[in-house]
Amino acid sequence: MKNVLIISFSQTSQANVIAQQVCRDLYDHEDVHVSFYEITLKDPFPYPWDSGAFFDAFPETFQQIPREITPPSEEILNGNYDLVIFSYQVWYLTPSLPVVSFLKSEYAEKLLSGRKVISIVSCRNMWAKAHDKTGEHFKRLNAERVGHIALVDRANNYASVITIVHWLYSGKKTRYLGFFPLPGVSDKDIEESGRFGQPILQALLTNNYSSLQKQLIDLKAVEIKPFLIIVDRTANKIFSFWSKKILTKKTNRKRWVTFFKYYLLFALWIISPIVLLLYNITYPLRLKSIRADIKHYQSL
Ligand SMILES: Cc1cc2nc3c(=O)[nH]c(=O)nc-3n(C[C@H](O)[C@H](O)[C@H](O)COP(=O)(O)O)c2cc1C
Repeated sequence: MKNVLIISFSQTSQANVIAQQVCRDLYDHEDVHVSFYEITLKDPFPYPWDSGAFFDAFPETFQQIPREITPPSEEILNGNYDLVIFSYQVWYLTPSLPVVSFLKSEYAEKLLSGRKVISIVSCRNMWAKAHDKTGEHFKRLNAERVGHIALVDRANNYASVITIVHWLYSGKKTRYLGFFPLPGVSDKDIEESGRFGQPILQALLTNNYSSLQKQLIDLKAVEIKPFLIIVDRTANKIFSFWSKKILTKKTNRKRWVTFFKYYLLFALWIISPIVLLLYNITYPLRLKSIRADIKHYQSL
């Protein structure tokens, strides 16, 4: 019997549903037992969000300052797992704060140390640096990443900003104004993520993960938009400045969070289209670094 543990966190249920869907064939196999552990914070973030809470979550999320989590049950903690499926989402280009709170807790050591891990990231579309950050946590925890899957909203980058805000502020996964695309990872992509189950199952049963990532890539488990990696990298530098600045503001934090919010809107709607134009003009000169980025972010 092989034991698999799914570790997940989700506010809308998207990351949980994706993890379950990817593991469909594992649940169905008689020689595999799947356990599910959902990360919960003692003091959870609101859902649906309001604008104040949404932007106020930024500094601690980006600086990965953990909150206390509810301890996993003894049954989960004492399991002997052959494989861990780690399903997470991105907040501010960083693994979400509940996920980081788990990764920095004593329970992560117990559940991940010495174990093989397949990570599944689901988000709007910008997960590259969050992938690097989870990689650093796995390394620190002595966990071995053996697979990596990324699922995103395929809508246009600007449309998906509008639709995700509608989704997260209303709690409803509906078409904004009746004509915008539906927010989040599409139902079709979620349904079809079950295709990753077979290679994972074979690797699990044979205890041979050497070709798993290659098989997942062939099944289009990680599709890269190089421009988004450049934005992600640049925005990380800018977020580092803003998050540190806001954390030093004890009395007028609210005002600084509001400055950050307007800066973000300016960067998104004014700076980023200019950067995209420059990127397209200089594309041929960037081919080498684009290839290197694709290789890096499709690997473990
Ligand atoms: C506070 C916050 C910040 C977010 N920041 C990002 C981001 O930087 N990049 C991204 O692609 N998605 C971002 N998202 C979207 C999430 O990654 C995710 O798709 C969405 O919250 C639904 O996830 P869940 O229901 O599984 O929790 C953010 C969401 C929240 C709530």
